[in-house]
Amino acid sequence: ECFFDECPLSCICARDSGTVTCRDNEDTELPGDIPAWATTLILRGNNISTLPGGAFSSNNGTKLKLTTLSLSHNGIMVIEADAFTGLPRLRLLDLSHNRLVYISDRAFHSLQELRSLYLNDSLLALAVAQLSNALHGDILCNLHRLELSGNRLKTIPISRLDAFNLHTLVLTNNSIENIGKENVSSLYRQKQVRVYLSLNPFRCNCELESFYFWLKNSSQCVDAARLLCAEPDAKKGIPIERLRSEDVDCLNENLEAVSYVFLGIVLALIGIVFLMVLYLNRRGIKRWLNNIRDACRDQMEVYHYRYEQDSDPRLANVAV
Ligand SMILES: *[C@@H]1O[C@H](CO)[C@@H](O)[C@H](O)[C@H]1NC(C)=O
Ligand SMILES: *[C@@H]1O[C@H](CO)[C@@H](O)[C@H](O)[C@H]1NC(C)=O
Ligand SMILES: *[C@@H]1O[C@H](CO)[C@@H](O)[C@H](O)[C@H]1NC(C)=O
Ligand SMILES: *[C@@H]1O[C@H](CO)[C@@H](O)[C@H](O)[C@H]1NC(C)=O
Ligand SMILES: *[C@@H]1O[C@H](CO)[C@@H](O)[C@H](O)[C@H]1NC(C)=O
Ligand SMILES: *[C@@H]1O[C@H](CO)[C@@H](O)[C@H](O)[C@H]1NC(C)=O
Repeated sequence: ECFFDECPLSCICARDSGTVTCRDNEDTELPGDIPAWATTLILRGNNISTLPGGAFSSNNGTKLKLTTLSLSHNGIMVIEADAFTGLPRLRLLDLSHNRLVYISDRAFHSLQELRSLYLNDSLLALAVAQLSNALHGDILCNLHRLELSGNRLKTIPISRLDAFNLHTLVLTNNSIENIGKENVSSLYRQKQVRVYLSLNPFRCNCELESFYFWLKNSSQCVDAARLLCAEPDAKKGIPIERLRSEDVDCLNENLEAVSYVFLGIVLALIGIVFLMVLYLNRRGIKRWLNNIRDACRDQMEVYHYRYEQDSDPRLANVAV
């Protein structure tokens, strides 16, 4: 008992606050002798590439009562199944600023009490696909806050929002160009959830429509005023909220295209009818043209005659 009251080598302990901090060691392993009184464990700036199953349950025979576990900036690449078993009271898990390439489907098993999960600046492309399998609602049913900034995400990596009780979802500084109709509907249904989405390269074409109305209609997006268009060039830097509804109206856009096509067809039909009329009446028209020509000729002859008379110098003298 007494042994485990002591602070692990190369860590700093604050018994009053129940905090053990182990920073910037070259260690590649987790310390195996965390004191039993610890409620907050901060391991930061170490070199831990893998979190194996039961990484915190084999603490040399002592059960941990951690409520906060911070593992940021450790170069963690792999989280194996059941990595966090033996931490039934854990409420906050910070895995930010790592280099995750593999997350087991069972990585977060047994974290029923978890309220906050930080995975910002931590997921490499391979791990993004695995994350949605690892984030089960039936395990993380009390998860309130999920931070996923800075992961180059293109979509929300959660298959069913209604499986959680999320209150805050942070998706800033990713690669999200749009949030589709289906996901917008799930957001509407999860009325309690607040979403952060600034610093994403939104594509402001008509496919943004349902997202645009969600921004305008619901107050679920906390940083709505800071969402900017990245595309098309003509709208670059414009806040999405300042777009007009016509700008994102697919019906409008389609109608415009359809109406041009329709106009073309109508003009073509008129042309064809005109040509047919000409063709069917070609005799009549010929006759009519001949008549006109004759009439013109008669007229010209009259003019010609008048002109000759007008230009007769004798007549001109008489007029003067
Ligand atoms: C585990 O505990 C034993 C005493 O019970 C001690 O001798 C040993 O050094 C401890 N191991 C670690 C890794 O702390
Ligand atoms: C981290 O540990 C691995 C071995 O597990 C080693 O190859 C690597 O050089 C270490 N990196 C640093 C920055 O110490
Ligand atoms: C990332 O996570 C850390 C926790 O380690 C938090 O303090 C920080 O605000 C987060 N950064 C962003 C951009 O959300
Ligand atoms: C955005 O995320 C990238 C990693 O994807 C990070 O390097 C960068 O510092 C972040 N930018 C801000 C403003 O947080
Ligand atoms: C988001 O939409 C995709 C399909 O577009 C779907 O697979 C996924 O489950 C949706 N996620 C949420 C949270 O609605
Ligand atoms: C709310 O959204 C609906 C479409 O879902 C839209 O018709 C309506 O105009 C929106 N209201 C506001 C105030 O934007």
